[in-house]
Amino acid sequence: MKTQLEQIRAQAAEELHAAADLKQVDDLRVRYLGKKGELTAILKQMGKLSAEERPVMGQLANEVRAAIEEKIAQRQQELKAAALEQQLITEKIDVTMPGVKPALGKQHPLSLVLDELKEIFLGMGFEVASGPEVEYDYYNFEALNIPKDHPARDTQDTFYINDNILLRTQTSPVQIRVMENKKPPVRMISPGRVYRSDAVDATHSPLFHQIEGLVVDKGITMADLKGTLEMFAKKLYGDDIKVRFRPHHFPFTEPSAEMDAMCFACHGEGCRLCKGEGWIEILGAGMVHPKVLQNCGIDPEEYSGFAFGIGLERIVMRRYNIDDLRLFYENDLRFLNQF
Ligand code: PHE
Repeated sequence: MKTQLEQIRAQAAEELHAAADLKQVDDLRVRYLGKKGELTAILKQMGKLSAEERPVMGQLANEVRAAIEEKIAQRQQELKAAALEQQLITEKIDVTMPGVKPALGKQHPLSLVLDELKEIFLGMGFEVASGPEVEYDYYNFEALNIPKDHPARDTQDTFYINDNILLRTQTSPVQIRVMENKKPPVRMISPGRVYRSDAVDATHSPLFHQIEGLVVDKGITMADLKGTLEMFAKKLYGDDIKVRFRPHHFPFTEPSAEMDAMCFACHGEGCRLCKGEGWIEILGAGMVHPKVLQNCGIDPEEYSGFAFGIGLERIVMRRYNIDDLRLFYENDLRFLNQF
């Protein structure tokens, strides 16, 4: 039995020394010291020994167990240290390496300027409203005083979905939706996409953006319209900007006007940018037609209002000197990264 014990001690030491990882060490622990292990198997034969031999062998067995346990602990220690060493080598950070610059996205120029316009109107007490892009004929035309046979329908090349439903050609239907749902006073802007069946070129696109504006209250006059829109132009282009109002016609406003801003490039002289005009058209506007108020259940004897529609693309093109509308929709990063 003594030789067996010595053999186990020597063999365990040798195998533990060769163990390559913690799993192997644990397997050896089970093999030698476990309940069904080799050392246990020998101890089970103790009963066969004589009374003198038993304590001697018992002590030796305990020594062997202690020795193996110590070897196991030692080998575990070594393997853990080696693993840590390895980890430190592979995870070493070279602080002299050049950094990786994260690629940041940019805001689209249309969004940049739209945010600016919203800020201007929010500052004047306007709320932001929205309406559907797929709209009823009623809201896009009928309620805006454009009946079925009205010639104004021809000028807005409409994408019809069926007789009743279309892609809105203007943001003006939001005026109706807001007035149907809210008693005056109303002060809102509504930016959004509009659609017209135009062929694509440098100044036309079947999809573009408008910002609708509407103010309804007691005693609103043309002076409020002019004051508000002049203030808007000054905030957008600076205090030096000059604007003018020209008479115009829209079925849903009366009287109606278009507002021009003096060309910032030539200051009214006439140049390539303003096509020799000296002025650039910025928006359409007018006093809300009494019929439109009536269509929304608002008494035109008690209330009056003004409305305006701004073309977003035109303002952004002016702002950044962009000469082709198509650039906005092509998602060319060489263009988009410039803003
Ligand atoms: N909806 C008009 C257009 O698309 C613009 C407009 C809006 C004019 C509000 C007057 C009042 O041309």
